[in-house]
Amino acid sequence: MTSNSNDNRHKDIHYTLHPYTNLSAHEEQGPLVITRGEGIHVWDDQGNQYIEGLAGLWCVSLGFSEPRLGQAAAKQFDSLPYTHTFSHRSSEPVIELSERLISIAPQPMAKAFFVNSGSEAVDTAIKFSWYYNNGLGRRQKKKIISRQRGYHGVTVASGSLTAIPLMQNDFDLPLDRMIQTETPNYYRFCEAGETEEQFAARLADSLEQLILDEDPETVAAFIAEPVMGAGGVILPPATYFERIQKVLKKYDVLMIADEVICGFGRTGSMWGSHTYDIRPDMVTCAKQLSSGYLPIAALMISGDMYDVFKDQSRKHGALGMGYTYGGHPVAAAVALETLKIYEERDMLGHVQSVAGHFGRRLAELSASPLVGESRGVGLIGGLELVANKQSREPYPAEVKVGATVAAKALANGLIVRGLPGDVIGICPPMIIEETEIDILFDRLALALSETENLLRDAA
Ligand SMILES: Cc1ncc(COP(=O)(O)O)c(C=O)c1O
Repeated sequence: MTSNSNDNRHKDIHYTLHPYTNLSAHEEQGPLVITRGEGIHVWDDQGNQYIEGLAGLWCVSLGFSEPRLGQAAAKQFDSLPYTHTFSHRSSEPVIELSERLISIAPQPMAKAFFVNSGSEAVDTAIKFSWYYNNGLGRRQKKKIISRQRGYHGVTVASGSLTAIPLMQNDFDLPLDRMIQTETPNYYRFCEAGETEEQFAARLADSLEQLILDEDPETVAAFIAEPVMGAGGVILPPATYFERIQKVLKKYDVLMIADEVICGFGRTGSMWGSHTYDIRPDMVTCAKQLSSGYLPIAALMISGDMYDVFKDQSRKHGALGMGYTYGGHPVAAAVALETLKIYEERDMLGHVQSVAGHFGRRLAELSASPLVGESRGVGLIGGLELVANKQSREPYPAEVKVGATVAAKALANGLIVRGLPGDVIGICPPMIIEETEIDILFDRLALALSETENLLRDAA
C-alpha cells in the first residue's frame, strides 16, 4: 500500500541521535519522516498515509489536527509567552489548570506540581517520597519498589524504576534504593491451574515478603501503571490492586499511580486508578494532558504529604525544587484547553461508546496462529505473539516477530509498536470512530497473516 521507495536522501544529512533505534540499521535506511497529520492519520514525506495506531507515543488523544489547541497556544504566546511558578509567582493558565486537575483527581489531592515530561514527574515523585519521609523523621524509609516490565521514564532515577533490560543495561541502572517485584502478566507467568485471583494473591504475598526482607522501615513507596503500557500492555489480573494496596497500607508504603498513559480516559474511565480502584498518595500524568501537542506533565500529591512539605519548607526556607519550564504558561494553556475539550465533547463517553467495538475487533485477532493472547481495556490493546499457542512458547529473540509485524503493518498503512516480549501495542487517538477502528484492525490482521506467511516460507 505505501510506496517503498527506499529513499535514502535523509541518511547523510541527518544528525539526530534516535531513541529506541538500532543505530547501525538506521544509518542504512534513514528515518521515516512524518510531515503532516489530520484526525487519526499522519503522512510521510513520500505522501504515504498511515493510521497512527499508537497516537504518536500514546499521547495524541485528540488526533493530529485539533485547531483549538493551536489557537490556545497562539493566544497565550500573544499575551504572555513565559513566566514561572517559583517564589510565589504563577500565571492564569497554571492556576486554572491546577484547579481542574485537582477537581478531577482520582483521589482527593491537595496540589499539582508541573514538570515537562513523564520522566520528570516520576523523578519528582521519588524525591517527594524521600522529602516526605525525612520530614517525618523516617530517615531510613527510602526504597522505591517498581515492577518488572514497568515503564516509568528514562532519567537516572525514573529509569531505575523502568525495569526493562534495554533501558538499564550498560546505563549503570538501577541505582541503589530501587527494587523490583514481579510483573502481573497472568498470561505469561501464571502457574498451571492458577486462577487470576490466585495469581494476584501470590504476587501480593511475594510483595509482602520483599518488603519484609528489605525491612519495612526502609521501604518508602511502590509505583505502578494501572495498565502497563510500554512494557507490553499488561492488564492487572482480578483483585491485584486490592491485594497489593492492603500490603502497602500494612507497612505504611506510599502508593504512586503512574497515570502517564492511562490518564484522561484511555482505559474508559477518567483515570486507570478509577478502572482498577487504586487509591494513590501521588499521581503522575502527562501525554494526554495536552494531547501531546506541547510537553507538560504533572505530579499531584495528597493533603497528608502537603502538610509535611509545609513543615519542611518552613525548616529549609522554601520547597527547594522546581524546573524553569515547569508550569510553562503556553503548555499550561494548551493542557487547559485539552481538558476543556474532553469535557465539552464528552470524550470519556466517546471512548466508552467505541471501546466495545475496539475490544471485539482486538479479540478476533486471537484467531491468528501468531497471537497467544489479545488483551485490552478502553482504547488500549496488546497482542502477545507466540511461536506455539498451546505451550505459549515465545519466538526466539532473533526472529524479531514483533518488529516484523510492526513493519508489515507500516507497509499496510498502520503505525503500531513492537513492545518488549513481542507484544504489539495498539493505542489510537481517542477520537477514533468505529469505521476507522475497522480499518485499523483490517490492516493489523493483514500484517499478521503476511508475517505468518513470511515465517512459514523461512522455515
Ligand atoms: C507510564 C509512563 N511513565 C512515564 C513515562 C515517561 O514519560 P516521558 O517519556 O514523557 O519522560 C512514560 C513514557 O512512555 C510512561 O508510559
